[in-house]
Formats: sequence, C-alpha cells, structure tokens
Amino acid sequence: MAKKPTKPTDLAGAVSAEAQPQYKVEYREIQPYGTLKRLPIALEDNARAQSVATLNQVLADTMTLRDMYKKHHWQMSGATFYQLHLLLDKHYEEQAALVDLVAERIMALGGISIAMSHDVAEMTTIPRPPKGREDVPTQLARLLEAHEIILRQAHEGAEAADESGDDGTNDLLVSNIIRTHEPQVWFLAEHLAATELVRDDK
Ligand SMILES: [Fe+2]
Repeated sequence: MAKKPTKPTDLAGAVSAEAQPQYKVEYREIQPYGTLKRLPIALEDNARAQSVATLNQVLADTMTLRDMYKKHHWQMSGATFYQLHLLLDKHYEEQAALVDLVAERIMALGGISIAMSHDVAEMTTIPRPPKGREDVPTQLARLLEAHEIILRQAHEGAEAADESGDDGTNDLLVSNIIRTHEPQVWFLAEHLAATELVRDDK
C-alpha cells in the first residue's frame, strides 16, 4: 500500500521557532534623511551639514549621468557605433565608482546618502532625456551638458568645503570628481569636431 503523503500543515509544524527566519518585521527608520549623527572626525556640524547637502546633489546628478551613459551605450548608432559603445561603457563604470565614493563620503560625515531612483529623479538637476533614441550629436551633447552641471557643483562645493575646513570633501570633489570629469569631457567633445577622416585636396 502506498504511503500517505504528509500534509503541508504537518511540514510547517515540524519547523522549530529557532529555525524559522523572522522576515515579517515592521519597517523601522533609524536615522531620517537630512539629519546628522555625531562622529569624532574633528569637523563642525555646520561644515558637515553643508558638505552633506552639496554631496547629495552631486550624488543625484552623478547617478543620473551614470545612467545616461548606459542609455546611450545601449542606444548608440552610426558609423562610430563600436568605439562609442565601448567608450560610453568605460565612462559608465568610472561614474559608477564615483557614485560609491560620494555616497560613502556622505555616510562618513554622519549624513544619509540618497539611494533610490525615485529620490534621484526628484533631486537631479540634469534635464530629462526622452525614453526614445536620439541621434549621436544629441547623445554626446546631453552627456557634455550633464558633465558641466556636475563640474560646476564640484568647483563651488570644493571652494565651500575648503573654507569650512572639510578637507576630505574638498579632496574628493577635486581629486575624484573634477579629475574624472575633465578627461571624460575631452574624450566626448573631440567626437563633435567636424573633421574629415581623409582630406581630398589633390
Ligand atoms: Fe553593455
């Protein structure tokens, strides 16, 4: 005679309370966005608050630029498809590294870094591109526009951080943000020079 199958309720009853993961918890926020916790890093609260606000704006715009690089990496077209497809992905990776550096600097200052796309969409100052595909000059011009927006924030933020004594934020904005963006702008902008590949002057 075939063995009677065990009922599901029997199986559930066999699991001890110790083995049962407690995944049904109440959501609990432990530090609201916009607040600062104290850390022994020898920086005034005002300096940290100013840097956190600047860095969160840089973070929102860097996440937007990072994602715009992927959009254009995917939606590239034309005779230079392959080189631009690869170049834009390289810049995407470099921007993704900056996102992590900026977000972790905000946390190291005692603040809260924005993280989710909804919040990024609310905060970013970079103009929204269409869902559809744009031509190559438009794609490159959009990226250059976004770079300049972030570079302006970085220059202003670096000066303010220097004046407030936040050397770490000043260094991040200069050594990482500015020094990464400038060569990326150079590489993109050179594609918009209307130079011929071969000269026909014979
Ligand atoms: Fe890819």
